[in-house]
Amino acid sequence: MKGIVVYDTSHGNTRAVAEAISETLRESGMEVGTFYVKDVKKLSAKDYDFLVLGSPTKFGTMSLAVKGFLGKVKGDEWANKPFAAFDTENPPNMEKKEWSAAEKIAAVLRDKKLSQSLPVLRVLVLDWKGPLLEGEIERTKAYARELAGQLKK
Ligand SMILES: Cc1cc2nc3c(=O)[nH]c(=O)nc-3n(C[C@H](O)[C@H](O)[C@H](O)COP(=O)(O)O)c2cc1C
Repeated sequence: MKGIVVYDTSHGNTRAVAEAISETLRESGMEVGTFYVKDVKKLSAKDYDFLVLGSPTKFGTMSLAVKGFLGKVKGDEWANKPFAAFDTENPPNMEKKEWSAAEKIAAVLRDKKLSQSLPVLRVLVLDWKGPLLEGEIERTKAYARELAGQLKK
């Protein structure tokens, strides 16, 4: 299976999560392209079997660049393809389900009739610049292993 992992980042934390997901999926036998969101000029569903999309949570939602990227995901081409969504955010934010970038990404992709493989992954960072909290990369890798298992079904 071949997938695309797309992320936005200002301070590198969301990139680190995207890279950990990509690396783990590759270890599980998947072919994965990993892209900074602003580097994706054209997105063709023909090239990929699944999509993983992540954003830093900003003001309770996804970044503008990720919102723009979602406009490139054409529902008629991507319908029924599996997806997963993740975000990075600060610990107090976890109490607010509706303030998660990942939940909002997932809602848009479900509306476009893609198929959600797993509940979203919300990864904790300290303040605005990070770093990621201890254990978050390990938790991310465990999530990606589970995702690989779902994708192979
Ligand atoms: C302008 C701005 C708004 C933010 N708003 C939120 C927020 O609403 N909730 C939250 O948990 N974190 C918020 N944060 C913290 C970001 O989630 C954090 O900077 C980000 O996860 C770091 O990821 P990055 O290193 O990939 O940029 C905000 C950060 C910035 C810069």
